[in-house]
Amino acid sequence: MKKEALWVFVVVWGVACFCGSHGCQEQERVALLVLNTTLDLTYSEYTGGSYFNCCSWRYVECNPATGRVTKLMLSHLRYYRFGSKTWYLNASLLLPFEELKSLDLSSNSIGGWIAPKEPNLLSSKLSKLEVLDLSDNSLDNSILSVLSTIPSLRRLLLISNNLSGTLHLHGDFSNLKELDISYNAIDVAATAKGIKNLSHLENLHLDGVHLKHAGTVVRALGALSSLRILSLQSNTIEGSITTQDFHNFSKLGTAHLG
Ligand SMILES: *[C@@H]1O[C@H](CO)[C@@H](O)[C@H](O)[C@H]1NC(C)=O
Ligand SMILES: *[C@@H]1O[C@H](CO)[C@@H](O)[C@H](O)[C@H]1NC(C)=O
Ligand SMILES: *[C@@H]1O[C@H](CO)[C@@H](O)[C@H](O)[C@H]1NC(C)=O
Ligand SMILES: *[C@@H]1O[C@H](CO)[C@@H](O)[C@H](O)[C@H]1NC(C)=O
Ligand SMILES: *[C@@H]1O[C@H](CO)[C@@H](O)[C@H](O)[C@H]1NC(C)=O
Repeated sequence: MKKEALWVFVVVWGVACFCGSHGCQEQERVALLVLNTTLDLTYSEYTGGSYFNCCSWRYVECNPATGRVTKLMLSHLRYYRFGSKTWYLNASLLLPFEELKSLDLSSNSIGGWIAPKEPNLLSSKLSKLEVLDLSDNSLDNSILSVLSTIPSLRRLLLISNNLSGTLHLHGDFSNLKELDISYNAIDVAATAKGIKNLSHLENLHLDGVHLKHAGTVVRALGALSSLRILSLQSNTIEGSITTQDFHNFSKLGTAHLG
């Protein structure tokens, strides 16, 4: 090999190696490795990158300009290695992901989040988090007080969890545009009183719930001035819903009933 060619090779190799190992932040990579002790990232093969560049891992998306993690798709990663036993997520592990916009932790047998001791840490570190999918876990109502400290949330999915009775959804959830709390044993009539305050809510899913005083519930939801989509499918209904109950919905385009 000529000397020049060797130099080009060394430089190209060096650049590739440098970019590879710095494609993701060390603290984010370490946090993922810690998560790998409770979620199974074994099959997180690298899509053309390396073990050191977590941005090339299959469940991870980064902002290519900053190399920061923007999306984590960690659904269904518990059962294979750990079985279906309920466990608690140490939410402090999420704090390094300061650019995270979207987090999917659905179907992982999570029983709750252990919030960091300092009250403002989640809101200050996860200030970009807009989409959170925690569906198909074993979360009870206590998850709401943890999530209420993340005011950036726009889309929250809590389908098929252990939510029950009255959900207190107010104040800090005021930026939510989409909420899906389908298939939980909640008291919809009591919960609707708090939901009324989510003035930016455009999309509400309440499928698979027991609906007492159905007409009254629908009328209460009419106070949601931004609501465009309301889904009330597969519910057991007491009482009737009439077109009159939809009188106060000003923007509603789609209602799924039945
Ligand atoms: C996660 O842990 C498993 C088991 O220890 C290991 O085989 C795998 O390589 C780890 N995944 C990553 C991305 O480090
Ligand atoms: C949660 O993780 C943080 C950071 O790794 C650690 O300092 C803390 O002790 C952990 N808390 C629990 C309850 O395990
Ligand atoms: C969640 O609800 C299911 C079904 O009602 C129940 O079997 C399970 O024990 C509950 N889990 C927790 C952690 O409460
Ligand atoms: C709804 O918002 C009003 C006005 O901001 C406030 O006074 C009230 O306490 C809120 N209700 C709930 C249930 O959060
Ligand atoms: C519609 O809203 C008005 C004013 O808030 C209220 O008086 C009325 O009872 C509501 N109608 C229905 C059908 O809920």
